[in-house]
Amino acid sequence: MLRRSLAISLVFAAALVAAAPAAATRYVVGSPGSGDPFFPLAGNGGYNVRHYSLDVEYEPDSDLLTGKTVLVARATENLRRFNLDLREFLTVSSVRVNGRRASYSQHSGQELSIDPRPKLKRGRLFVVSVEYSGTAEPVVDPDGSIEGWVPTEDGAFVVNEPQGSPGWYAVNDTPRDKATYDIEVTVPAGRVAISNGILLSRRERGGKTTWHWVERYPMAPYLATATNGVFETRFRRLESGLPEYNAVDPTTRVNAESPSNPALAWERLEPQPEIVDFFSDLYGRYPFESVGGIVDWAPNVGYSLESQTKANYWRIVGPSTVVHEIAHQWFGNAVTLAYWPDIWLNEGFATWSEWIYDERHGGPTAQETFDELYAIPEDSEEGQDLWFPAPAALPGPEALFHTPVYDRGAMTLQALRQKVGDAVFFELLRDWYRKNRYRNVTTADFIALAERESGQQLDAFFDAWLYQPGRPESW
Ligand code: TRP
Ligand code: ZN
Repeated sequence: MLRRSLAISLVFAAALVAAAPAAATRYVVGSPGSGDPFFPLAGNGGYNVRHYSLDVEYEPDSDLLTGKTVLVARATENLRRFNLDLREFLTVSSVRVNGRRASYSQHSGQELSIDPRPKLKRGRLFVVSVEYSGTAEPVVDPDGSIEGWVPTEDGAFVVNEPQGSPGWYAVNDTPRDKATYDIEVTVPAGRVAISNGILLSRRERGGKTTWHWVERYPMAPYLATATNGVFETRFRRLESGLPEYNAVDPTTRVNAESPSNPALAWERLEPQPEIVDFFSDLYGRYPFESVGGIVDWAPNVGYSLESQTKANYWRIVGPSTVVHEIAHQWFGNAVTLAYWPDIWLNEGFATWSEWIYDERHGGPTAQETFDELYAIPEDSEEGQDLWFPAPAALPGPEALFHTPVYDRGAMTLQALRQKVGDAVFFELLRDWYRKNRYRNVTTADFIALAERESGQQLDAFFDAWLYQPGRPESW
């Protein structure tokens, strides 16, 4: 009797022990956003992507875009459902997770919800494959500008800041989820497709050309590109060994009224090696394994973009824009904002980089540029544009690329240079880059480092320059 009840309780105890861990595994739905104040649905929760293999085919005559995104990610939660970002004008035809068909739905304009079976365990790597197609169309931003896969006369201009990536691939579209990329772009034979990193191969088949590029350094999704069309390409190797890939649209021009002038476009790209050397000396070694520029003619875009390793120029720009986009390879691309309201960390640094480039190349000093801007009174039309809003207190996403982000952002750095002196200031920029390259940063991180390296209490300084509307009167 005693023996039997003991045996029974042991059996019960064993069952309880066995049942406990199973009951503890709870599966959740990954968040449909990643917490950005300006773009609440951009990015997703529950996983981090390591690598993307993008395969996109484009027919410029019909604008038909057909794509397959394969990504490798690690689950950070136990997931019964997770999302990717993909715009609704691209229709998904198949989703596989670890090779098995998964059910999915597209909703809310840019969400693709996926139910993997079996569910995903936290900590595990998994592979997602998404096939889709549709008529390419640009993503329209809160400021009215267009981005994503923007059709041109002969191809597409492909830029994604801040939210264009889901317009051409399935993505965890947050700058905090950097990954490496393989990008294969198939275009009509004879057309060119330029992407990030280095060119692995180019093959012709059935009247089409496939360009295969690979970016082996971490890249934020908005910095991917696949600009394509009729281009003249020139590939060369810099003295340092860095490959330089340039592409110029033979129809590119300065503006709609001027004639096409590819020779001038090539002239604009010519200083790139010197610019790379200049910023390598100033900030620390160049962060990536290739460099270059793509000069297209995309008159409806109206801005250029620092796509990783190869900036996209929408027209023939002035020399300072090339300096600006190359400086972004350090600040913006290697050291990347974590949240979009901190955009001055990208643009203020790139703009100040133009100023110091001028200073060291026989132009005005950065202080002279600062002084000229500082003289603009608050109550003038120009002053309203420059001094409002404060660069780190933007009211909303429509203000992301307004003047204060660039000019007042750069002035903040120049004012800081005055305040802490050149020795501390230049060391601070180098350390900011060295500590944070391939990662993400916030304004608070910069303030903390500036205070640590200068030994000064800088709250009032940064409050005046970054957070208070109007022209700072003392700092
Ligand atoms: N690429 C621009 C720069 O280098 C920034 C940018 C992205 C932009 N999208 C835009 C500017 C839309 C104006 C409008 O600074
Ligand atoms: Zn910029």
